Amino acid sequence: MGEITIRDVKVIPTAPRDINLVAVKVLTSEPDLYGVGCATFTQRSNTVVEAIEDYIKPLVIGKPVLNTEDMFQYLYGSSYWRNGPVLNNAISGIDEALWDIKGKIAGLPVYQLLGGKCRFGIAAYAHADGTTKEEAEENARKLVEQGYKYIRVQQNTYGGETLTDLPSGAPEGTYYDPKQYMKTTLTLFDHIRQKLGHDVELIHDVHERLSPIDAINFAREMEAFHLFFLEDLFSPEQLEWFSKVRRLSSVPLAMGELFNNPHEWKTLIVNQNIDFIRIHTSQIGGITAGKKMAVFCEPFGIRTAWHGPGDITPIGVAANIAIDISTPNFGIQEFDGFSEAECEVFPGCPEFRDGFLYPSEKPGLGIDINEKAAAKYPCRYHHNKWLWARLTDGTCVRA
Ligand code: CO
Repeated sequence: MGEITIRDVKVIPTAPRDINLVAVKVLTSEPDLYGVGCATFTQRSNTVVEAIEDYIKPLVIGKPVLNTEDMFQYLYGSSYWRNGPVLNNAISGIDEALWDIKGKIAGLPVYQLLGGKCRFGIAAYAHADGTTKEEAEENARKLVEQGYKYIRVQQNTYGGETLTDLPSGAPEGTYYDPKQYMKTTLTLFDHIRQKLGHDVELIHDVHERLSPIDAINFAREMEAFHLFFLEDLFSPEQLEWFSKVRRLSSVPLAMGELFNNPHEWKTLIVNQNIDFIRIHTSQIGGITAGKKMAVFCEPFGIRTAWHGPGDITPIGVAANIAIDISTPNFGIQEFDGFSEAECEVFPGCPEFRDGFLYPSEKPGLGIDINEKAAAKYPCRYHHNKWLWARLTDGTCVRA
């Protein structure tokens, strides 16, 4: 076998559960050897498809498949202006596919190339939401029955409510009252702890919806419920507040699903201002970038909690798991299950059993894409879906 090179790149957009996903298939000079990667930026998925087709594909064809680090560096600098979600996801599609190919060539699962197993199951958490505290409790109980030992609990997801008493001219949509949200959430957690006890680990996501000083007071009040972590207490634009809340509260903090750029997390990690780093792996460039970030966090005592709800392909889940199982400072993996349609489009979805995820033992990432099945679920654009809420006076709330 001579040097194996990239022969072609296919970009495959698909939406098996009505969430736009982008998968990448890298074909090689060996007729049956290919790899798959996740390049999903759900909210702007088409821009990633075009970035790969128009800019990345011409750069990578003919390049050797084994130099994953060189490929990452080459693509990362190739646009000069860098660190945005579109191009990072495009890089991730190639990067993860090359790791998949490397594993297939070695005859080993990707996690073996990242250090092998340093644990034997990957603890996962799922979401229990409800419009009332009783409904959230019921959904949390269902997850406990499925074996989950860690559960994220929310009421009205991120506190959005249909409010009356709005100023005239306020557009239709979801409205959000921060004070009401804080009160509701404190009552919710009091209820959940009373009903579910203290054996289950609880998580809550603020989704950066509070003003910084409200967020600090809220974090202090949430200490009573002994959370596993409190997520996204501040927005990426307000990172300086983490050093302030640290002095006032010992609530464990998770942050980072919106990060694209190393400048956003370096200081936070070095100053130990968070406990869990929660990046979306494809958003920072794939396995090469994700594994390095995990290694960077280790000496600072910061654990990983990769972002992983429905806006990630099962290929991306397999990539997360390869890092999770080989990383000593792993914390937890967010997980949203797989639908039947997803399992049809992505044969070899990672296995979930009794609260734990398990990597495939097949060479590479152990997962494939069925292009015929993928074509049955075309992407659609829900233009208003991500415009989430406004304050009670009609002001737009970010995220
Ligand atoms: Co979140």
